[in-house]
Parts: sequence; C-alpha cells; structure tokens
Amino acid sequence: MRPLTIDSLNPALLKVEYAVRGELAIKAENYRVQLQDGDRSLPFDRVISSNIGNPQQKGLDQAPITFARQVSTPHSTQPRRDSPSALSQIAALTEWPALAELAPDVFPKDVVARAKELLSEIGSIGAYSHSQGVPFIRKNVAKFIEERDGYPADPNHIFLTTGASAGVSLLINMLISSPTSGILIPIPQYPLYTATLAQHNGQPIPYYLDESKDWATSIADIEQALDKAHKANIVPKALVIINPGNPTGSLLSEETMTQIVHLCEKYSLVLLADEVYQSNLHRPSTHPFTSFKKIVCKVQSHVPLVSFHSISKGVTGECGRRGGYFECHNISEPVVALIYKMVSVGLCPPLAGQIGVDSMVRPPRAGDESYELWKKETQATHDALASRTQTMSDRLNGLPGVSCVASPGALYLFPRITLSQAAITAARQHGKEPDVFYALALLDETGICVVAGSGFGQKEGEWHYRLTCLCPGVDEYVGKLEKFHRGWVEKYGEA
Ligand SMILES: Cc1ncc(COP(=O)(O)O)c(C=O)c1O
Repeated sequence: MRPLTIDSLNPALLKVEYAVRGELAIKAENYRVQLQDGDRSLPFDRVISSNIGNPQQKGLDQAPITFARQVSTPHSTQPRRDSPSALSQIAALTEWPALAELAPDVFPKDVVARAKELLSEIGSIGAYSHSQGVPFIRKNVAKFIEERDGYPADPNHIFLTTGASAGVSLLINMLISSPTSGILIPIPQYPLYTATLAQHNGQPIPYYLDESKDWATSIADIEQALDKAHKANIVPKALVIINPGNPTGSLLSEETMTQIVHLCEKYSLVLLADEVYQSNLHRPSTHPFTSFKKIVCKVQSHVPLVSFHSISKGVTGECGRRGGYFECHNISEPVVALIYKMVSVGLCPPLAGQIGVDSMVRPPRAGDESYELWKKETQATHDALASRTQTMSDRLNGLPGVSCVASPGALYLFPRITLSQAAITAARQHGKEPDVFYALALLDETGICVVAGSGFGQKEGEWHYRLTCLCPGVDEYVGKLEKFHRGWVEKYGEA
C-alpha cells in the first residue's frame, strides 16, 4: 500500500497560511506546556496570549454574559466571580431544562421564560435544526437588524452559521468560479480571507488601507487595485470590507461607505461586509458604527450585499460556541436557493451557537429581572476594552520608533515598528521576516505572544505587529513590552 503523503493531497492546501495560529502561537503553546511541567528556566512565569481575539481564553478576563449561559450549560451557572450571567443562564436551561425546577431560586424569571420559549421552538438541542438555522431565531435576527438599521430584514435571507468564518468560506467558495476570479481584500487583513482564497484557488486583489489617516479606506486605492487586476486578466467578483477593522480597529464613516457602495455598483462587485466587531466601539459618540445594510437601503442601491456577524466578539465573546449569521440583501432567489443547498450539505450549525446568536440579538430589556446584571456586565467589558486600548496606544506611542493608531473599535492595536538595518540583517540571517524576528524575541523574553504584521499584509518595507487589548493588568503587561522594546533598540540601534 502507498503511504499517504503531502504530494498526493490537494495542492491548494499547501498555499494556505493563517498567522494568528502560526509559528508564534505554536512556540507560545510549547512554552505554556514547559511552564506547566514545572520548568523554571524561562525568563517569565506565564505566557500572555495577545495573538488572538479570544476574549474568554484562560488568563484573560472577559467573562461570559450570565443571561445567555443560563438559558444553556449545567456547569456554568456560576461563570462570573460574583454572579452568573444571563447568556450563561439561557445556555444552561436549554441544555438541561430540568434545572429550572431543581434550582428554582437560581434563575431569573425572564431567563426561565426565554429558555422555555426557545425549547418550544427548537425541541431538543441534540437534534439537527433547519439547515439555515432555527426559523424562530432567524426571525429574531431579522428584528435585531430592523431595529439597528430602520430597514426591513427578511428571515428567509438570513443564514445562521458556525461562526462568521463558515459563512465567509462558503461565500468565497461560491464566488470563485474560475482560477482568474479575484476578490478585493484590504491590506492589512484578517488572514481568513487570504487563507480561504488560497484554498479555493481564487486571486486576492489587495487594496491598501492608509495608516497615515488612521487606516482609512480610499476609493482611489481600490480603483487602482481594480485597474491592476484587470491588466493581469483577473476578474474581480467581490469587495471585502472589515468594519470595524481587524487588525486595524478602524471605523468607516457613512460618507466613505456610500462611496464604497457606488464603487461596487460601478464595477458590478458583490459587497462582503464583515461586521463581527460592530459592538466593540471604544468612542461611540465620535466613532459610531453604521452597517452596510443601512447604507445600501438608504441610497436605494441594488448592490448585492452579504453581511456577517458573530457571537465570538462584542460583549458576548463566545468564540468556542461557534455561532454567527449572514444576511443576504439584493441577492436573487436562485442564488439564495443555491446557498441553502450548500449549507444543507453541512446539515446545520451547532444549536448552542444558534442559541448564543438568539441571546446576542435579544438581550434583556429594561424592566426584565436580568437587565441590571446584563447592563453591569456589558458596561464593564466595554469600559475595560476602551481604557486598555487608550493606555496601551498612548504608551506604545512613547517608545522610540513605534507609532500606533489608537483604534476606535474591535479588540486590537496594530503598532508600526521601524527597524534598524542591523535588526533587519540579523532577522534575515535567521531566515525570518524582520517583524517575525521581533515578535519571536518578544515572546522569548517576556512570554507575550503577538502576531507579526506580515501575517496580515503590510506595505513593502514596513513592519508591524498586532496585539489584542484583552489582557488584564495593563500596567505590568505594557511595562514588559516597553522594557523589551528599549532593550531591542539598545541592541540593534534606532532606524
Ligand atoms: C474580521 C473577522 N472576521 C471573522 C472572524 C471569524 O469569527 P468567528 O469566530 O465568528 O468565525 C474573525 C475572528 O477573529 C475576525 O476577526
């Protein structure tokens, strides 16, 4: 029998790269195991995971929202240090409905009523649901979108998904109709896009965000990228916008969004709006979020739009539950039917994730028993993120050779580091990209794991890294970053 070898597998898979869980994350994991095994030879006593937007990860302090958990796991009735959250409560009761009778004083009345209502629509959460997602939950998503935007949403055009990633992968798979099909993606980008394009043999068409203008999206730069693609015989099919941005945390103005919609009309592009960070807003009074659905409706555009949302981010941070949805707008019925056929091959998204979506789009309202706790929990999360983002960017900007846009949204900062020729030469001698070399040295010395900018894309000759703003103990954490950077500059000199 022939052994199974890499050469006999789909060659497209070899081109897939996903830096968020790449070399640095693997090395960090090895350090974590070493520390767990009692190794005291490392210069740090814990690994700090700043590489991934995983809010509930061990060592970080974003706790689950009680409301949703109560409505689904028996073990999580006390997920918070002080009290159980409503999301947790809903999760708990849909997992094991008898809990409401076994512990009658534990669950608020609105949580018990919500769990009963969900279960009467779903039946058992151990059963497959409708492949597009539980119809009742899709109706609730549609209401959430209508309330957010002030325009109608059709539950039949909403697909519940296994996180936003599953929806993005499906749409990219469907849009890449030949090896010359291309999709416009922002640079820097979240690497799901380049990875999925590589997997499906599509062409990324990069357009660059403008760091000097707080990572703004420029219509002229997108048109330049389109022009280059046309000259290379690449057929642009869609435009990806990540708003708020990852890794940049930037937010689009309504004016730019309107221009983007008109650009999609002009070039017949499908608009893929990745809006998973829509509720992670650090300065909402000056930097509010507007959805592309709202803009497309407002300007009465016929641009085909698919918008993605997720329970992984925001105040829910339930990444491991795998829940999300996408809404199709201006997408013809035969195409919606084809999407339905494709999702039905996967049977259905996880019920726990679907229930998580329901709790995200239907949080407790003022007057509900759960409301006060929900308000307190969500406000604490928003406040912590906003203040860490500000403190971290202020202090990073105080370092020689570092500049950092203070993101108005999402969970990240993407500081630029200027590296001396000596540092670049040392990196090349080690066979590394200079920013990877920097990030590896940071990990080796401090235990802080970040992702090098080359994993997201950046302009030639520029270097960055992405770090999350989820770590508690910001003073100690940034202190370590500062000490490391100053030591680096001492060793390799300023650029
Ligand atoms: C911009 C962006 N889109 C999509 C996703 C995928 O999220 P999910 O966990 O919902 O699949 C992420 C995750 O980090 C992200 O940053």
